[in-house]
Amino acid sequence: MLKSELFAARVPRYTSYPTAPHFHPGVNQATYRQWLSALPVDLPLSLYLHIPFCDTLCWFCGCHTTVVNRYAPVREYCDFVVDEMALVATALGSKRPVRHIHWGGGSPTMLQPCDIDRLSGALARYFEIVPDAEFAVEVDPRGLSQECVNAFARAGLTRASIGVQDCDPAVQRAINRIQTREETAQAVAMLRAAGVKSINLDLLYGLPRQTLKSWKETLHFALSLDPDRLAVFGYAHMPSFKMHQTLIPDHLLPDIDTRLRQVELASQILIANGYVAVGLDHFAKPEDSMGKAVSSGTLARNFQGYTTDTASFLIGLGASAIGSLPQGYVQNASVVPKYRTALARGDLPVSKGIALSQQDRLRRYIIERLMCDLTVDLGDACERYCEEPEVLRDSLSRLAPLIMAGAVSVEGLVVRISPLWRVSARLVCAAFDTYLEPAQARHSISA
Ligand SMILES: C[S@@+](CC[C@H](N)C(=O)[O-])C[C@H]1O[C@@H](n2cnc3c(N)ncnc32)[C@H](O)[C@@H]1O
Ligand code: SF4
Repeated sequence: MLKSELFAARVPRYTSYPTAPHFHPGVNQATYRQWLSALPVDLPLSLYLHIPFCDTLCWFCGCHTTVVNRYAPVREYCDFVVDEMALVATALGSKRPVRHIHWGGGSPTMLQPCDIDRLSGALARYFEIVPDAEFAVEVDPRGLSQECVNAFARAGLTRASIGVQDCDPAVQRAINRIQTREETAQAVAMLRAAGVKSINLDLLYGLPRQTLKSWKETLHFALSLDPDRLAVFGYAHMPSFKMHQTLIPDHLLPDIDTRLRQVELASQILIANGYVAVGLDHFAKPEDSMGKAVSSGTLARNFQGYTTDTASFLIGLGASAIGSLPQGYVQNASVVPKYRTALARGDLPVSKGIALSQQDRLRRYIIERLMCDLTVDLGDACERYCEEPEVLRDSLSRLAPLIMAGAVSVEGLVVRISPLWRVSARLVCAAFDTYLEPAQARHSISA
């Protein structure tokens, strides 16, 4: 099999295992209430809060978001999120300690300052936010106001994750995201001046009209802002799931070989400038907590991608938000009207989820370690989850074409992904995924 054919295979991003397409309505609000009430009282939680609104639509966007041209629905949505916090806190039965908070979207920075104050005030009312809690927010730098930055700073923001994508005007026109370099630089400066210590920049390769030359310029521009971390995502083009992506014609997209060269270029430039590679698609300064997590083998992966957050209880708040509990996963209704209707009835807005079997836990551990460390000791994994390595026999045989291609090696029970195949580690993970059906079109290509 050719390397480019392997890279073109469609596989999940493995931000969970089992992955979200396997969640089902059999896990409902009654299940969630029961799971919440069984959580040990003193174990710290992580919170994810989803703001599914944006001012304009980027044509590449794969996130759960809606464009609004009036603010009223956003304010009303905040009321419902506060209701959800109250219901979750009641189901938990006591105020639980929280170490990590992440607001994502959509664009949390389109919230008005009074709503940022209101949501962060409600979080502090229903949960015990520990004094050194990490608080990260996804930031759209376009039109970011000083008042918005001040409100997040008041709420205790410690890290901002800023969407940059690409700074070439031709690429920006082709994705309907016009963002000047000055706007991006100003957002970074405002956040730093407000005391936000850690800055992450999101970049995207594989975009329409993106050439190696323009991509190189984007990378150097990003470096000029001295970020602590960078996420270098490959554009996932799935127009059959995201209708608006049809606005990006296929013929404008770089081919697989160009995408691979773009990844290699990013790696070379970022590593030459002192960053360490984190998992498949992140880079961090060695002194950043994510850089340190790589060297200590404590990097984790959750719905926000790579994280230093190792908490086993993640509560998701807001439409489409996913929670990860020791018992399994739960997902809220994806569309805002359904989310609101459930809360208006006084119900937790869970629409689906999945309970984990012991084998799911074993496979989840293996996939997380492969995604984070690019290596896993299957013997050690089986011991942790009291399973016999025999249960992984089919998975090991599925690795054969990848071993032949040089993507992965297996010595005894230790699986190692070649650094040259880092970007496609999820192909190796897919061999351990017993839910995956062949040729699943709902996932993006691996490179
Ligand atoms: C919620 S957005 C970040 C905050 C803000 N909404 C913005 O765009 O600036 C999260 C990130 O997901 C990435 N993303 C969105 N759509 C994607 C796609 N189709 N494929 C790969 N990455 C994508 C982008 O890099 C984006 O910055
Ligand atoms: S990329 Fe960000 S700003 Fe653009 S539509 Fe998606 S969530 Fe909104």
